[in-house]
Amino acid sequence: MIPSETIRQIIETARIEDVVGEFVTLKKRGSNMWGVCPFHKEKTPSFSVNPARNIFKCFGCGKAGNSVHFIMEHEHYSYPEALRYLAKKYGIKIEEREQTPEELAAQNERERMFNINSFAQNYFSQTMMDTDEGRSVGLAYFRERGFRDAIINRFQLGYCPNGGSAFTDYATQHGYDKDLLIKVGLTGSYEHRSYDRYQGRVIFPIHNLTGKVIGFGGRILTNDKTKAKYVNSPESEIYNKSQTLYGIYFAKNEIARLDNCILVEGYADVLSMHQAGIENVVASSGTSLTTEQVRMISRYTKNVTILYDGDAAGIHAALRGTNMVLEEGMNVRIVVLPPEDDPDTFVQHNPIEYVTKYLADNAKDFISFKTNLLLKDAKNDPIKKASVIKDIVETISVIPDPIYRATYIKECSRTLEVAEQTLMNELNKILRAKYRKQLGIDPSQMPQTVDIPQQPQQPIPTEPEKPAGFYQEQELVKLLLTHGSDTIVMEEKDEEGNTLHDESGNDITYTTTIASAIIDDLLYNDVPFRDATHKKIFDAFNQGLDSDVLPTAQDFISSEDQDVAELAANLLSSQYRLDDWRRHRIVVKTEDDVLKKTVIMSILRFKDMVIEDRRREIMNELRDAADADDQLIILEKKKKLDDLRNRINRDLGIVITK
Ligand code: CTP
Ligand code: MN
Repeated sequence: MIPSETIRQIIETARIEDVVGEFVTLKKRGSNMWGVCPFHKEKTPSFSVNPARNIFKCFGCGKAGNSVHFIMEHEHYSYPEALRYLAKKYGIKIEEREQTPEELAAQNERERMFNINSFAQNYFSQTMMDTDEGRSVGLAYFRERGFRDAIINRFQLGYCPNGGSAFTDYATQHGYDKDLLIKVGLTGSYEHRSYDRYQGRVIFPIHNLTGKVIGFGGRILTNDKTKAKYVNSPESEIYNKSQTLYGIYFAKNEIARLDNCILVEGYADVLSMHQAGIENVVASSGTSLTTEQVRMISRYTKNVTILYDGDAAGIHAALRGTNMVLEEGMNVRIVVLPPEDDPDTFVQHNPIEYVTKYLADNAKDFISFKTNLLLKDAKNDPIKKASVIKDIVETISVIPDPIYRATYIKECSRTLEVAEQTLMNELNKILRAKYRKQLGIDPSQMPQTVDIPQQPQQPIPTEPEKPAGFYQEQELVKLLLTHGSDTIVMEEKDEEGNTLHDESGNDITYTTTIASAIIDDLLYNDVPFRDATHKKIFDAFNQGLDSDVLPTAQDFISSEDQDVAELAANLLSSQYRLDDWRRHRIVVKTEDDVLKKTVIMSILRFKDMVIEDRRREIMNELRDAADADDQLIILEKKKKLDDLRNRINRDLGIVITK
C-alpha cells in the first residue's frame, strides 16, 4: 500500500512536461506545450500539456489527466505501477504503509504461491527437454502438432512425468510446502497420499499481465474419453479464471500496436497463431468471455476480432456473450473459419499470406453478421422476422455510443427491410426501460408510455448515460474548479427578485465565494447534482465550506479517485470563455461583473433544466392519472413548478438585460 501523502508527493513532484517529454516531442506555443498525441493516430498536434496545472489533454481523442494517468495510459500500467515508476524517476522513496499481520500473511502466501509456480514451470520445462520420457512423450507430442522450439520456449511449455508423484516429491525435497502445493493445484491428495495432478500431461503455463505464472493447463496425450482433456489450476489468490486471458503477456504489445485483439478459444490456437507470426492473439480458455477479460483487452485496444470455428457450435458461441463486449464500448468483428477448421489447424495448414488475406476479407462487423445470420432462418416467416428485429435492436441498444447506435439502425433498416423509424422506436423503448431501471424506478409502477399509440415521436433519452441537465451540471463543476474560492459581491433580493435597499437607497450587498454562491443555492432549492463524479466534487466543496478550507483545483487533479482526477484535468484543460458575453452583445463592465453573471446564469440554466425534466415527469403522470382527484394533485404540483420556472426566466431576463 502506498500511503496517500506519498501519492500526493509523487503527483506534485512529477513535472508533466518531463514525464510526457520522454515519449512525445513537445513544442511550446502560448502557455501550453503541444505534440502529436501518442494515444490516437494524427498528423497535426492536438495533444497539449499544461505545465502550470501539471496536466495533459488531447483535444483530438479527449484523453486527459495528470502524470500518473499519462504513464498508466502510455505504458499500460496499473495505478500503483505508474506511481512506482514516477517515484523511481524522481527519487521519491515509497515507505509502504505498515501492513497488518493478516495482510502480511496474505501477501507472503501470494509470494510463495508465485514462487511455487515458477519452480514448477522450470521443472516441467526441464523435464520435457532433458529427460528421456520428457523428450519421447511430451516434446514429441508438441513436435507432432507442429510446434517448434522457439514457441515452446517462449510460452514455457513443459511436461509432467507419468507415474504418481515425481514432481510433488521433488518439490517437497526442495522445501516447498505440501499444503501450498495442493492449494495451487499442482498436487492432489487422496487418502493421505499425494499425487501429481498433471502426471503424464503436457503443460501450458498461464501467465498474468506481468509475465508471472499464475496457473497451468495440463493436456492429456491420449484420446481417452473417460479422462478430462484438460486439468486446470483451481481458483486461488493468484489465479482467477474470469480475469485471465491466455497469452495476454505475450500479445499485449502487438495488440496495442495493431490496435486490434484477436480472440480464440484454446491454448493450441494461441500457440499456432503466434508461431505463424500473428501475435495479437489471446484465448478465453474455453469459457465465454467475461466483463473483466474485456476490460483487460480494452486497456490496449477497442477493437476485437473473434475467430470462431466454422461449425454450428462455433457460430452459436459467437452469438453468445458478444453483447457484453459491445456493452463495454468495443467494436466487435467476427471471422468464421471454414467448417472443417479451428484457428489452430487453419494457420498450420495454410500459408501465412492466405491466412492474413482470409482474416482481412472475412472479418464481418458483428451486428451485420448477426443480422444476416438470423435473417437467413426467418426469411419468409413474418413472426420469426419480428423476433429477429427485436433481437437485433436489443443488441444495438447495448452499444454505449449513440452515434454508433444510429449508424447501425440505419444499416439494419436496409438489411431487414424495415423503416428506420420503426427500429428507432423499438430502440427507444428498450433504452427507456433501461434508463428507468438505472434510476431505480420500478417498471410496474411506471405509466406504460410505450404502449400509447398517439404519443408523438419525441427524441426521448436515447443517451441514458447523460441525464437531463448533465452539461449544465458540468458547467457549474467547471466554475467551482476554476473560480471556487474567488469572491463576488451579490445583491440581497426579495421574493420577487427585486434588489433590497438600505435607508440611504444603496443596494444591500454581501460578499461571498463563488463556491458558496453555487453550493448554497443548489442546497436551498434542493436541486442536487445527479452525476456521481460531479457529486463528489460538489461534496468536497460543501465540506470545504463547513471547515472554511476550500479545496483547490490541484487537490482534484491529484485525487486518488480516478474519475474525479480525470474530470478535473479535462475541465481545467478547456479554456473558460468568460468573454462569451460580449459576443452575445451583452454589456459587461468589469471582469468581476463577467464572472458574477456567469455564475448566476449557470445556476439558473441548471435549475431550468432540472425543472424542465421534473415537468416532463409530471406531464407523464398527468396523462396516466386515473381519476380527477389525482389529476388535481398533479396539476397543483405542475403549477408550483411553472411558478418556479417563471421566476427563473424572469431572473434570467434580469441578468441579461441589467
Ligand atoms: N478446456 C478446458 N477443459 C476441457 C476442455 C477445454 O479447460 N476439458 C479449455 C482449454 O483452455 C482449451 C479450450 O477450452 O484450450 C478450448 O477447448 P478445445 O478446443 O477442446 O481445446 P484445444 O486447446 O483446442 O485442444 P486441442 O486442439 O489440443 O484438442
Ligand atoms: Mn483445438
